[in-house]
Amino acid sequence: MSWTLNAARSPRPRITPASVQDTPHRDPRQRRVLDARRRTSEGAGPGHGSATAECLTEGVDLERCGPDDIEALTAFLGEVDLTRSGLDAASVRLWLAHDGTGVIVGSTGYEISGDGDHALIRSVAVSADQRSRGRGSALATFALARAAEEGARRAWLFSRRSGPFWQSLGFEPADRDELAEVLADTHQVRLFRQTGQLGREVAWSRPLAAGE
Ligand SMILES: CC(C)(COP(=O)(O)OP(=O)(O)OC[C@H]1O[C@@H](n2cnc3c(N)ncnc32)[C@H](O)[C@@H]1OP(=O)(O)O)[C@@H](O)C(=O)NCCC(=O)NCCS
Repeated sequence: MSWTLNAARSPRPRITPASVQDTPHRDPRQRRVLDARRRTSEGAGPGHGSATAECLTEGVDLERCGPDDIEALTAFLGEVDLTRSGLDAASVRLWLAHDGTGVIVGSTGYEISGDGDHALIRSVAVSADQRSRGRGSALATFALARAAEEGARRAWLFSRRSGPFWQSLGFEPADRDELAEVLADTHQVRLFRQTGQLGREVAWSRPLAAGE
């Protein structure tokens, strides 16, 4: 299982063609993606990096989201009611956690502003039956660390429902118009502007670099 904590000592088994064939999934959307994984063991493409598993400090294994994962991720984000736009964009970095059958049970990521200074945290989600075990915090912390490594100095996000969760990770209420200005070129901001959702959103922010 990918969620096994301390996975550094007990690495999660990678998805192999054999394991995919042996474990057909009931959800046809996820099934199609598993079939695609069987056809290609490396799903990396422009802007997505390799599909190599990575281990969080907390011990949760993640894989970089590749082109073959987009369909299943879209379905997963639909289930948890998060934005699905721009998942395949080069500026969007995404990672996935799977269960032992290859089904997505967690996701995390961010999109960097054109100037590289700001990161819009997005797609942080845990499947409903896996929540309240610290996994959401681990996924969010991973994205924050990666955005800081990439040079971003401030993290931002939209969240109407999970403010206390983000506050526990150092986020404070922010001006959504300021968010929309510094991250104007991101898919989420462009979508929210087009649809009018921006006016209904709640913005959060926290520094990533010392002294901000
Ligand atoms: C938000 C989410 C990722 C949290 O995942 P999780 O695995 O339950 O998170 P954790 O177990 O690390 O929770 C950490 C703390 O935040 C709290 N928390 C989690 N979700 C919360 C919410 N929606 N509102 C208030 N508090 C919340 C937990 O109770 C926990 O507090 P505690 O340690 O004092 O008990 C998960 O609820 C989820 O996927 N929600 C749907 C998608 C979503 O809204 N994502 C945020 C996008 S901006």
